Amino acid sequence: MRKTFILLVPLISGLFIYSCFKGGVLNRDLVFKNDNGNVVFSHVYHVKVKKQHCSYCHPKIFKKKFGADKFTMKDIWNGKYCGVCHNGSRAFDAKNPRNCIKCHKPKSGEKQ
Ligand code: HEC
Ligand code: HEC
Ligand code: HEC
Repeated sequence: MRKTFILLVPLISGLFIYSCFKGGVLNRDLVFKNDNGNVVFSHVYHVKVKKQHCSYCHPKIFKKKFGADKFTMKDIWNGKYCGVCHNGSRAFDAKNPRNCIKCHKPKSGEKQ
């Protein structure tokens, strides 16, 4: 019984992750609209390319609902939300002026 349970957990969570990507929820990038240039968050990039497990972010840092967490740039610079990783150790530093553009994309029409 216990063994089947231990085997089932990764299987079910694996299927869940698969179906989320397959079904499209996680394939659609999240766009944080912003006057400073919209910020695009990609689950595909973070999870598949950079191997960040769901549990690194959910539910500790972010709710599983777009727009549910209210945060500002100051929160990120204070090491919260995206800033848990984007602080120069686990991922590029959000305080470095050269990195703003990695998250904030110029509005369409403007050239980079
Ligand atoms: C690097 C951090 C990170 C990782 C890893 C991550 N997520 Fe998310 N996820 C987010 C953020 C940020 C949001 C938006 C939260 C908000 O706006 O308050 C989100 C939102 C979601 C949503 C809601 C989408 C919507 O349109 O409302 C679902 C579902 C979700 N995540 C599932 C997952 C699953 C399943 C995994 C693992 C395969 C995963 N996430 C991995 C950061 C992450
Ligand atoms: C890791 C990604 C990331 C980086 C790097 C980043 N930002 Fe942001 N920034 C965000 C997100 C996400 C928001 C939007 C928060 C929201 O709308 O909920 C935001 C919001 C903002 C805002 C809107 C007002 C506010 O305080 O929320 C300003 C201004 C801003 N950022 C400036 C900057 C500057 C200047 C830099 C570089 C020094 C920078 N950002 C780097 C992700 C980033
Ligand atoms: C659990 C850790 C973690 C969290 C939380 C996280 N990221 Fe990331 N992110 C990474 C890693 C790791 C990379 C790849 C390494 C790097 O580029 O420094 C990355 C890369 C990125 C890139 C790619 C930049 C490029 O080079 O093109 C963007 C954009 C980005 N993150 C935005 C965000 C935003 C916006 C948030 C918050 C909504 C966020 N990330 C939260 C770990 C995280």
